[in-house]
Amino acid sequence: MKKNYVVLGGLAALAGITTICSCGQPGTEEEEKNLKIGISVYDQYDTFVTEMVSSFQNYAKEKEKDWGISIELEVKNANNNQISQNDQMDDFIQDGADIVCINLVDRTDASGIIEKAKSNDIPVIFFNRELVKEDLERWDKLYYVGADAFQSGKMQGDILVEECKKNFSVIDKNKDGILQYVMLEGEPGHNDSMVRSMAVINEITERGYLVEKLSDEIANWNRDQAANKMKQFLEAYGDKIEVVMANNDDMALGAIDTLKDFGMDITDENWPVILGVDGTAVGLHAVEKGEMLGTVLNDFKGQACGMLELAYSIKMEKPLSEEFELEDGKYIRLPYKSVTKKNLGEIQMELME
Ligand code: GAL
Repeated sequence: MKKNYVVLGGLAALAGITTICSCGQPGTEEEEKNLKIGISVYDQYDTFVTEMVSSFQNYAKEKEKDWGISIELEVKNANNNQISQNDQMDDFIQDGADIVCINLVDRTDASGIIEKAKSNDIPVIFFNRELVKEDLERWDKLYYVGADAFQSGKMQGDILVEECKKNFSVIDKNKDGILQYVMLEGEPGHNDSMVRSMAVINEITERGYLVEKLSDEIANWNRDQAANKMKQFLEAYGDKIEVVMANNDDMALGAIDTLKDFGMDITDENWPVILGVDGTAVGLHAVEKGEMLGTVLNDFKGQACGMLELAYSIKMEKPLSEEFELEDGKYIRLPYKSVTKKNLGEIQMELME
């Protein structure tokens, strides 16, 4: 039998387009043992999304054996262009995909994908970039896999509050009783950036700490953009910055890059508290080195596994694995987890399993 599973790995693999080969005729037993999934990511250079897709590929390899089927994956990069992503949906349809997993470029513009899915009767699992509920309700074969952004902001705030309880006088460098902070935000209009930015501040203030925003800037989840914004913050506010809150790890790392460029290291008394979200490999490494106080694990492995289990249950018309709950028949949301030096080892072990 023709080898029909496409193996891809990491960023480099996402750059290449692989094709689904057609094995088995529709309706034959062989066809039933074959699951073809098309995946389109909004941007192949996004660290978190890349880690998630690579987990998906690993699970697919494992599950092929467990389920006794062959799984074919086709991964495409939409390169931040919604029109290209809509065209990729056409390609998936032509290639005979059973299920399509879409990481929307523009979460407010899902109609093109939804119309194509409906008219060709191909279920879609949207992931990571949450579309509005009204869109998801436009057809019963539309699903979403992700996480509750509010929880990540709240956990980020909690990490800071717990640290303040122990070390407020160290964090509050100018001793005015107020936490002066800068915020690095993800893309404008992205659910995760809007909700995280709001929830982190709510958590800190509701738990009794005063904050003063020195500045906030959009850095689109991107390390280099964040590094530039941090340069502007440092030039404007210097050592007034006590806390850097970033909507994701890559932007926190961008801030760290700039602090280092300014000749600082973690032993420097002006090194601010830095917080991220995602728990990417590089993010966890920064927590390990003490450069970041903490991050919040965005469970990319759980989300990848949930997405694959859902695809399998849809295609095979079997109940979804009990490990996952399908809220309102549409949503799988995996919980976030706080990560600091204290539980880092535990989290790293979990991620290796
Ligand atoms: C967020 C994640 C970011 C970025 C973004 C892309 O959930 O925290 O790092 O990957 O999704 O949509």
